Amino acid sequence: MLVFIDTANIDEIKASCQYGYVAGVTTNPSLIAKEKLPPDEILNQICALVDGPVNAEVLAEDTAGMVAEARELVKISPNIVVKIPMTGSGLKAVAILDKEGIKTNVTLIFSANQALLAARSGATYVSPFIGRVDDIGYDGVVIVSQIAQIFDLHNINCQIIAASIRHPRHVTEVALAGADIGTIPFKVLDKMKAHPLTDIGIERFLSDWQKSIK
Ligand code: G3P
Repeated sequence: MLVFIDTANIDEIKASCQYGYVAGVTTNPSLIAKEKLPPDEILNQICALVDGPVNAEVLAEDTAGMVAEARELVKISPNIVVKIPMTGSGLKAVAILDKEGIKTNVTLIFSANQALLAARSGATYVSPFIGRVDDIGYDGVVIVSQIAQIFDLHNINCQIIAASIRHPRHVTEVALAGADIGTIPFKVLDKMKAHPLTDIGIERFLSDWQKSIK
């Protein structure tokens, strides 16, 4: 499973890129709204920092508006993947954009059937939202596992981005469930690096070394 970072914060992206594990970025309107810069400037800066896919979402709710926004977004950089919400209008937009060779990520997916339709409409990626399913008392990881099974059984060429990841255990679970990509918030990436036994191990190695050279 590839690691994407789920943020529009330039400092978080700069810091994370140094580790070498970030293969792409996902943003959404809520994440962009938290930042001070204008949206185009944020996307320009992210595309300059990251070689891989940079996901930017449309705001229009009608097909023509989504297609028009998508055509503008891809002018920013060849890295741009256009996020389209999982609605009827969204799927029509995906079908048009697919014919134009514009990559799309169908977002706000909450069921395997939604993912199947999005993939058949021509989506490059589908984004099931794990945490938001857990929030209402169901199991978000199960949806990732169902989508992975369906895509595998039917040779569907569409990648699964597990999104709305809230904690490190989600990451392990979606990787095991067959997600191609996990898009992970900065704070969760930080927690994934840490283990108390790693710290204790380093201290012990150093103190044993010090004792031996006294
Ligand atoms: O990538 C989608 C993600 O940003 C949504 O996360 O935590 O708002 O459900 P959350």
